[in-house]
Amino acid sequence: MSKLMRYIVFFYLVFMGAQWLLRNKSYTISPKEFKSIASKAHGAGSSSAAVTKLTNELRRVYGVAIDAEATWNPLFLGNLDLKILLLHASITEYSGVIAAPYAESGRVGLHWTNSTCTVLSGSVSRSTDSSGFANKETFAPGANFRHGQFESYVYSFTADTYLACYGRGVVPTSGVWTILSGLANGEPLAAGNLFKDYFRGVFQNTFAAVSQVFRHYKQKATGRSDL
Ligand SMILES: *[C@@H]1O[C@H](CO)[C@@H](O)[C@H](O)[C@H]1NC(C)=O
Repeated sequence: MSKLMRYIVFFYLVFMGAQWLLRNKSYTISPKEFKSIASKAHGAGSSSAAVTKLTNELRRVYGVAIDAEATWNPLFLGNLDLKILLLHASITEYSGVIAAPYAESGRVGLHWTNSTCTVLSGSVSRSTDSSGFANKETFAPGANFRHGQFESYVYSFTADTYLACYGRGVVPTSGVWTILSGLANGEPLAAGNLFKDYFRGVFQNTFAAVSQVFRHYKQKATGRSDL
């Protein structure tokens, strides 16, 4: 086998292994529940009321897995200047509110995540690469759309569009685009802020998961719980 062939086989096996793990691992957030919470939040009145309602309800259901003190960060995707309020972050899941302050359009890039987004306010329209211009979809407040892994779309947002999104996959791979786009926009520090918040979330959620497993076995070994 040539060297190139060996690399291709190796990456294919790593990719298939990762896909298998992603299909079989357990997840913190249920997409069905997320969609139901997001669609209830969209009717809250203003977009800031919707964001508060979404955060509170997710916090009530998922506890400390939801960052109640999350702050907005710039989210650079290609030429799109978006903002994100990251509510949950781990290696394989993310959840947050993504907002477009101005009317803008562009590609969001290729992502190794399946995302589901509910429009809280404003509107989103998109066109996929795999069909002609006839296939343009538009989503109004309350509507939900899926952006599957490795799918390409050109998106267009009206001013003050807020989306509640949840996704599963290999989330850090999307970090590559946001960092590169941040650099291309001459904003390395702003792009770095999101990175910092993302890894803080990953650390906290991993720590919470590990201590839960630890408590479980401790309780089994000693026959009593800490409660
Ligand atoms: C993403 O969606 C595809 C196609 O529906 C599926 O095969 C894959 O397992 C999904 N990945 C995750 C992490 O849920």
